[in-house]
Amino acid sequence: MSRIAYVNGQYLPHLDASVHIEDRGFQFADGVYEVCEVRHLQLLDVTRHLDRLERSLRELAIQMPMERRCIPLIMREIVTRNRVINGLVYMQANRGVYPRNHLFPPKSVKPSLVITAKHTNRAAAEEMAACGIGVISVPENRWDRVDIKSVSLLPNVLAKQKALEAGAGEAWFIDVDGFVTEGSSTNAWIVSKDGVLVTRPAESGILRGITRTRVIDMAAGMGYSIEERAFTIEEAKAAREAFVTAASSVVLPVVEIDGATVANGHPGETATRLRALFFDSSEKLPC
Ligand code: PDD
Repeated sequence: MSRIAYVNGQYLPHLDASVHIEDRGFQFADGVYEVCEVRHLQLLDVTRHLDRLERSLRELAIQMPMERRCIPLIMREIVTRNRVINGLVYMQANRGVYPRNHLFPPKSVKPSLVITAKHTNRAAAEEMAACGIGVISVPENRWDRVDIKSVSLLPNVLAKQKALEAGAGEAWFIDVDGFVTEGSSTNAWIVSKDGVLVTRPAESGILRGITRTRVIDMAAGMGYSIEERAFTIEEAKAAREAFVTAASSVVLPVVEIDGATVANGHPGETATRLRALFFDSSEKLPC
């Protein structure tokens, strides 16, 4: 079965799905995106993903490409047409197509909207989570509006590739004061020696991850103490546990940081428990 993509009002075979060369996403990375997990034919936390999409667009003065209530209909349609049971939905909204000019196009130019879906291998993901991943640290070199889920991801791309080449699964950005901000495509967490879950506040310096928010709600409900504060890479190396969160990796244990093992080098109990309970505590939209 061939894959189908939604591109500006049309459902197209993936191979034929393309954007115009004057698309501002292509020309300037002038747009935003969301990635939403599909599990057991259900879309997770769509309300929060749409809230963040609206916010990101508002911050960049880009119009919503269509009425908000219509977007989940397309997301569900694209999941169904691609027969995705477990996977990810990607959507990008940008400032539209207009002859290249740094200035915003006229208000009459319609924003672009692209929505795709892909399968993920849940067994492989669980295997990876059972082993945990390594992370490397890299200097923070992104702009100061990383709270916007912009498609402009060059530093993130370079950092992730560097991690891969170092045999690690993720790179953590370190700010000028020596604190971890977040991963190239994940939020960063530790569990302190006394069992407190620690993650950086989302007011600045990181993306407010939907998975992060869900884990905070879930962990609080389970009786964990949570501290939203910055931590250093040294504190992370000495922590009881470390893990990352994202829609694409749920809760993923970190077992090595810059070559040093975290605790006994195996996934921690807290991260493993939070991962197991994540689906049950998420908002679900059946497809
Ligand atoms: N990345 N921080 C960054 C820089 C991210 O790119 C992401 C998500 C997150 C976690 O956000 P959420 O929990 O809402 O997925 C944090 C997506 C998955 C991606 O770029 O593919």
